[in-house]
Amino acid sequence: MKTKRLGIMAALPQELGDLIAQMRAAGEVRTVTLGQREYYIGDAHGLPAVVTLARIGKVAAAATASALVHVFDADAIVFTGVAGGVRADVQVGDVVVADALMQHDLDASPLFPRYEVPLLDRARFDADRALSDALAAAADAFIAEEGGALAERFAVAAPRVHRGLVVSGDRFIASHDALFALRDALPDALAVEMEGAAIAQVCYEHGVPCAVVRTISDAADAAAPLSFTEFLTSIAATYSSGILSRFLRAAG
Ligand code: ADE
Repeated sequence: MKTKRLGIMAALPQELGDLIAQMRAAGEVRTVTLGQREYYIGDAHGLPAVVTLARIGKVAAAATASALVHVFDADAIVFTGVAGGVRADVQVGDVVVADALMQHDLDASPLFPRYEVPLLDRARFDADRALSDALAAAADAFIAEEGGALAERFAVAAPRVHRGLVVSGDRFIASHDALFALRDALPDALAVEMEGAAIAQVCYEHGVPCAVVRTISDAADAAAPLSFTEFLTSIAATYSSGILSRFLRAAG
């Protein structure tokens, strides 16, 4: 898919990998500060891009996505980062590419059906098919080429790429009870995080294609805080760099 300027977002620096360093190595990078965030404008593996860190949560993500579209002229947005695994077969080290996103903590009932975004008439927002296909292809290639090294260096066994529903909320899921409540309420949810559905809603409202790719850092259970922190510090950047570089080179 052809974009004039792709917006690339993550919540935390580890989730962006070496992208900004790569942009600096490739040429001039202009940095603009807005709303306590830095936006890096330059060439990302051959594609004109604006790259930024949203920080954590739906409000932060929505505000950042809005700025990408309205101030920085992004005509498509890709979000990369980590997530907790929700469906039982989605394991730490797997990659999930969202087909659709929804807010698992949105509840304006009985005024509106549970999960529905009031006055938008929908709970789920589709990710852009072409962008998501390209991200999934990049994730497949990354795992095919680097899977052996991942297993050796990080003890991540046979990672897989999944496609499906990603759910977002302003809550870090870190207990058996919270995880099973989520599985019961939304049986098709593959992974949980704190930004994706907010970005998907902003993009839907403005007719901008978006896609979300997440590496599973934890099982959203009591061990999640430790697993998340370890994954973030030691592995997340390897995944993001590996997937983004392949995605961007193929798109450029
Ligand atoms: N991001 C990564 N792991 C998560 C979890 N367990 N809950 C919410 N967001 C997450």
